[in-house]
Amino acid sequence: MQTKPQAKYLKNYQIPSHTVSNFELDVELHPTETKIKAKATYQCNREEATLRLDGVDLQLNTVRVNGEDFKDYVQEPTSLTLSNLPEKFTLEIENTISPSTNTSLEGLYLSEGAYCTQCEAEGFRKITYFLDRPDVLTDYLVTITAEKNITYLLSNGNKISEGKLPDGRHYTKWQDPHKKPSYLFALVAGDFDVLRDKFTTRSGREVDLEIFVDKGNLSKAPHAMTSLINAMKWDEARFNLEYDLDIYMIVAVDFFNMGAMENKGLNVFNSACVLANQQTATDRDYHTIESIVGHEYFHNWTGNRVTCRDWFQLSLKEGLTVFRDQEFSSDLGSRALNRIDAVMAMRTHQFAEDSGPMAHPIRPEKVIEMNNFYTVTVYNKGAEVIRMMHTLLGEENFQKGMQLYFQRHDGQAVTCDDFVSAMNDASGKCLNQFKLWYSQFGTPKIKVETEYKQNEQKFVLKLEQIHAASDPVAQPLHIPFAIELLDEEGNSLPLSINGHSVGSVLELTEHTASYEFENICKRPIPVLLENFSAPCIVEYDYHLTDLLDILKHASSDYSRWEAAQRAFILEIKSAVCSLEQQKQVNISEELLNVLASVLKEENTDKALISELIRLPNFDTVSAEFDCIPVTELVAIFKQFEQQIAAELNSELKAAYVNSIENGEVSAAAVAARSLKSITLYYLAQTPDSDVSSWLESNSTQENMTLKLAALKAAKSADHSSAEQLITEFDANWRHDPLVMDKWFALQACTNNDGAVELVKSLYDHPCFDKSNPNRVRALVGQFTRSNPAQFHRLDGKGYELLADLLIELNDINPQNASRMVTPFMSWQRYDQQRQSLIKTQLKRIAAIENLSDDLFEKVDKALNA
Ligand code: TRP
Ligand code: ZN
Repeated sequence: MQTKPQAKYLKNYQIPSHTVSNFELDVELHPTETKIKAKATYQCNREEATLRLDGVDLQLNTVRVNGEDFKDYVQEPTSLTLSNLPEKFTLEIENTISPSTNTSLEGLYLSEGAYCTQCEAEGFRKITYFLDRPDVLTDYLVTITAEKNITYLLSNGNKISEGKLPDGRHYTKWQDPHKKPSYLFALVAGDFDVLRDKFTTRSGREVDLEIFVDKGNLSKAPHAMTSLINAMKWDEARFNLEYDLDIYMIVAVDFFNMGAMENKGLNVFNSACVLANQQTATDRDYHTIESIVGHEYFHNWTGNRVTCRDWFQLSLKEGLTVFRDQEFSSDLGSRALNRIDAVMAMRTHQFAEDSGPMAHPIRPEKVIEMNNFYTVTVYNKGAEVIRMMHTLLGEENFQKGMQLYFQRHDGQAVTCDDFVSAMNDASGKCLNQFKLWYSQFGTPKIKVETEYKQNEQKFVLKLEQIHAASDPVAQPLHIPFAIELLDEEGNSLPLSINGHSVGSVLELTEHTASYEFENICKRPIPVLLENFSAPCIVEYDYHLTDLLDILKHASSDYSRWEAAQRAFILEIKSAVCSLEQQKQVNISEELLNVLASVLKEENTDKALISELIRLPNFDTVSAEFDCIPVTELVAIFKQFEQQIAAELNSELKAAYVNSIENGEVSAAAVAARSLKSITLYYLAQTPDSDVSSWLESNSTQENMTLKLAALKAAKSADHSSAEQLITEFDANWRHDPLVMDKWFALQACTNNDGAVELVKSLYDHPCFDKSNPNRVRALVGQFTRSNPAQFHRLDGKGYELLADLLIELNDINPQNASRMVTPFMSWQRYDQQRQSLIKTQLKRIAAIENLSDDLFEKVDKALNA
């Protein structure tokens, strides 16, 4: 029997035993024997003569205390404990590591010949023995030595010297003037092409901007550079925050577990989140790059200057920084579309997590493997919690709160409570009850009832908040519930209660509340939880006609989209009932008519039209069912797509033809391509000669957005041209792995009996590599997330495919394995047969030898749910 991994608890937090200063780190790079020398001053904080340092997979060579060899230590698999120490001393440790065999992509590893590091959350301990926790801040002096063909030797802060060594190797020294925790340390060494630019901050500091990419990729770096400059400007304008070093570097690497990492002055990025040009990247990729470059830059203040006391506080930096990157994208582009994106992310991923076995509050209380808590809950729900404070306080008070937060905590490692206190104190708004959002898990349901009292000209709105049944101690939350009351033409009615006019944000603080709006002379149409003002589920018996009125007339783009989604969901739910009674399934004519007129709107943003006519995705719809009717939903989606294609044929064609774009990256061109893509997707479902020629002409386009849209449309409709287009794409793009990811993802969506075998056969494709997380997510991730018919096959082959892969990944890259297990976590949401098939696979995984903490934590929770 293996011993079970132990959980850590927030309630057991203790301050670090020692303070560290004058940290000097010497790294002599070598693929299998990199030598690390770490020297620092340790000062005891408590009355303790022992020091327990973290360290994993390290070969220890020497330990010296105050310059003398030291023997009074115990080495364990994940620690080094030194005893009988003086109160203050210099510790020197030498150890050896092997970057080339490190496939976990944590600590120091090789990515296509380049050395790079990933230290968040607890990766620094794979480099040397250290107090590897975010509340131990120190200054760093880093010396990197390597063969001279490794051109660039980079670390955090400012380069203070460099030179040649007598043996032909070279070195550079870096000093970071800002104290930082070990998770923000970075080292990169390799041969790159560099894109350079400059930025002058508002106070006149000249900053060198450098983006390092693989040789030959320089033409794909300008979009990231523009995004960085825009982010720097925006943070000054909106948040009054300036950059604080003379250099800002971004390095793009191919092997990376996440999107990017905000290491001080030296961000390391997944190359997928940097590289783009019109031939290789879609408009969506451009948008993702902008937001991630922004996100990492914004961390410089929210994360680096003020960091987390402990990892339970992760949302302190991540929720806040996601909020900031969302605002950045919204200020630069379309606010409504960015809101739609954010809400979709919540509904497709976060709601599922919050109702499954891994449900946790945005500030978790218990963690086995920290890497498992970089979740949509901590990030995206965390951002929604910040957004609610912004809604309750307003922009001005929110910014005052930010100022106070930096005034109080610059240079410190703090807690979520500290952040809320700053907001509370700066604004005078009491946030005591609001803080429960940090400790309570689950998606609150808000049950809404309405009544129109004709005689009294009053409209009554009753709200009730309901919390997860699995949380017996749940308390009522402070919920900003935004509403609008519309007349039939979509005009917003003034709101007044007891003779006083009131704002649109109701503050629900009790279990139930009732509001009587006066002077309402006709039954109004309520718009509920407008702009998704809180991360909740609204339960309200909407009539289709009300939803269609909102979709037709509301002035808020977001509300129109929400109404369209609700209307589709109503139709899909009633189609499921029809199917159960062996009846025909159809979208009602009323909805189709409104969609037809939406397609004809001339003054509406084409990107918005695209979203209004798009069916909600599979996961959003699934969330509406206790037991997800997989087969039925797949059939209904197909049927609805075909019906839209047939009955709106002329409107779709007209919209397609009128979406004129000129290959630019401008908002108008992006919007036109978006509408072209979705209309072509529908039209391909019932093809005619026009459509066939459009598929053909788009697939030969230079522009990747249009090309990929044609391929997707052809593939999903099983169009006669599909096979050939896919073969050609493969032949044309094998030199570019990021483009091939799009091809793998497309193949993963094959909906026929051969799909599982196809995916398996692609493991042998020359571009595929199980140790590269991007490839694995493109192929298998896409299969499990976007091919419900084949993943949930009743012969269990889809589940078996995933489990086989997870078992392999457990040894290669546990962090990636653990992220890929997500589709299994919601096993309880399926029918009995599928439940038992998934459980069989989960048990297989649980039984393997050397099960990583990452997988153990999730599989164990799933099986004991
Ligand atoms: N802090 C990073 C971000 O959100 C996240 C991150 C990058 C990360 N790489 C990681 C988290 C590896 C855990 C492990 O910006
Ligand atoms: Zn982040």
